[in-house]
Formats: sequence, C-alpha cells, structure tokens
Amino acid sequence: MTTVTVALSSGSYPIHIAAGLLADADLWSRLLAGRQAFVLSDDNVAARWLPRLQQGLAGADAPTLILPPGEEQKSLGQFAAVIDALVQHKRRRNSVLIALGGGVIGDLGGFAAACYQRGIACIQVPTTLLAMVDSSVGGKTAINHPASKNLIGAFHQPEAVIADLATLATLPQREFRSGLAEIIKYGLIADADFLLWLEQQLDALLAHDAEALAHAIARSCAHKAAIVARDPTEQGERALLNLGHTFAHAIETELGYGAWLHGEAVAAGLVLAAELAAELGTLPDRTLAQRTRHWLQRAALPVGLPAGIDHEALLRHMALDKKNLGSTLRFILPTAVGRSAIVDGIETGPVRRVLGR
Ligand code: NAD
Ligand code: GLY
Repeated sequence: MTTVTVALSSGSYPIHIAAGLLADADLWSRLLAGRQAFVLSDDNVAARWLPRLQQGLAGADAPTLILPPGEEQKSLGQFAAVIDALVQHKRRRNSVLIALGGGVIGDLGGFAAACYQRGIACIQVPTTLLAMVDSSVGGKTAINHPASKNLIGAFHQPEAVIADLATLATLPQREFRSGLAEIIKYGLIADADFLLWLEQQLDALLAHDAEALAHAIARSCAHKAAIVARDPTEQGERALLNLGHTFAHAIETELGYGAWLHGEAVAAGLVLAAELAAELGTLPDRTLAQRTRHWLQRAALPVGLPAGIDHEALLRHMALDKKNLGSTLRFILPTAVGRSAIVDGIETGPVRRVLGR
C-alpha cells in the first residue's frame, strides 16, 4: 500500500492507495474504531463494489443510501435525501459518512457530512480516476444550484481517502481517459520529471498497468496534498490546480453539462492555456502546447474546441469566472515545462485570437 499524507495544521489525513482496500477488514476496523457509519454510493458503483466494501466493514453498523448516477444528484433535493437518511438511521455526531463513488458522490456526501450536526467525519472512497487524483483530496465539497455549478458548498477535509485501484477495472474507458487529463495537469503545474515519466508510461497507464497506475495516482495526490497543505482554502496557490479549467468550464457551460466529460474539457483547456501562454509570451518554450497536444491525443482526449462552438459565448462565460478580480481575466498559465503561474489582467484580445485558431 502507498500512503500519501495531507499535512494540514488542522490535522493530517492519509490517502491510502492499493488494490483490494475495500475488503480490507483490518483497515476498516482501524478507520472506524467502533463508530457508527453510513455509506453513500450510486447505482453503478454499488452494483459492482458495495459487496466488497461490506466485506471490509465486516458487520459494522453501516446502513447504505444508493442514488442514481449523474451530476444531477448534486442537488438540494438529493442533499436533503442524504440528511433525511442520516436522521432516519439515527447517525450521531461521531458517525462516519463513507462516500463510495466518483466525484459526484464524493462532493454530495462530503457536503452532507460537512452540514449534518455541524459536521461529521467523512471517509472518501473514490472509484473514478478523476476522484482518486483530484476530487476526493483537499476537502472541497459542493452541490449545484440552477444558477451555477458547485455554488453551495463547504471546505470539509476527509478523515481519510481510500483509493482501491481494483475499482478502476469496471470504470468505463472514457471516464478513465478523462481522469488522465487531470494527471497530466499535475505534471504541467509542478513536475517536469513526471511529464517525462508520463510520456514514457502513457501506454502502460492506458492498459491499466497496476504499477504505473499506483505511481501516477500517488504522485498526483502528493502534488495536490502539498498545495492543499500550503493553501487549504484557496487564498492563493491552490488556484494553480485550475490549470486549463477557465477554458474547460466555459466549454462545459456552453455545451451543456454532460456533453463532454469534465476531463475532456480540461484536456482541451490545457492545450488552450499553453497556446495562450505562448501568445502572451509568458511561456518561452513554444513547443509545450504541441507536446501537450500530443500526450492528450495519445489518450484519445480532445485537444481543441468542440466544432462550431460560439467563441463570444465562451468569452462571456469566462468573464463570469469566480477567479477574475476585475474586468480583465485571470488564467492559470504554464510558464515553463512543469511550471505554471496565476496570471491576472489578461485582456480578451489574446484569448479571442487563441480561440479563433
Ligand atoms: P461521477 O462521479 O459522475 O462518475 C462518473 C461515472 O462513472 C458515473 O456514472 C458513475 O456511476 C460511474 N462510476 C464511478 N466509479 C465507477 C466504477 N469504479 N466502475 C463503474 N462505474 C463507475 O464523475 P467524476 O468524474 O468522478 O466526478 C465528477 C464530479 O467531481 C463533478 O461533479 C465535479 O464537479 C466534481 N469535482 C470535484 C472536485 C473537488 O475538488 N471537490 C474536483 C474535480 C471534480
Ligand atoms: N479541484 C481543484 C481543487 O481542489 O482546488
């Protein structure tokens, strides 16, 4: 088992990474330490992996709520359903919510845990690649409002993250590839050596090679853990984790959520961010956009805008981005291979030129 620690001043927690952790009764016994639990999952995940978790929980008091899959579950209505279930099952202040699923279950379950009785413990059990390397780590929890995605939420750090690599075997390949975009993102933000490693190991990752996957997930989590430890509530540096996301969120909003997976939009956003950096001159190495495109293409991810998308509409979405400080735009941009920075004051002209290529 590989363990990465998220070292926060408010308390550290482990990210355990290995195949077979769901059914590891010793691990779960240590994690729960006799406390009541409550398992939240979705149909797809529960059908395949809940029996394995129940084996690990070995008869612990852990009723289950299983929701349909999909982003629509991150709603006020389903939030209320989770709270109702916690009440119905008489969960106490010291109960533990176990979120078994992808980022949707993790965000909804984490937010319910943040609110129920002013906050109960949450253990994130990510079952998508995206959730293993991003959403389960760092304590951002949220549900959506019709006005905006993730509008209602809280920072609520998990007590532990349990990434059972075996669960990735049943993840649809499109979802798996989408998670790879987030892994490449970490290399672009902070780790030139990791980019080289990814270049060499991409085929192994695409073939679900266990050793390569464990390494890529652990290294991604280590980057996220380090950034979150320095800036848990995104006062500054944590915004770097949004590399490619200003473009990605605009694409997702314009296409309608679900048309492209989040990681697919991030893939296009990573290329566009490198192109914008080259356009603005913040990135002297003009080959990075080309290399990024090549890595993502190998993973069969999009490397440009969806055909026919309205560029002015994208610019309007970007202008509403929460990260902007004034009338100009803020982007996270690569500044070298394996290094990125937060850049404010970007005018729409260069962005328009990059969109129009
Ligand atoms: P998801 O949770 O919708 O899962 C994707 C699909 O895969 C679903 O249909 C799910 O049922 C299925 N699935 C999950 N694991 C499976 C498995 N092992 N086998 C078979 N099917 C499986 O999507 P996601 O990409 O994991 O997460 C997206 C969500 O994460 C978004 O709501 C996004 O806002 C959120 N997010 C949050 C953060 C954060 O920091 N909190 C970061 C990134 C994304
Ligand atoms: N996914 C971005 C963050 O956790 O800050």
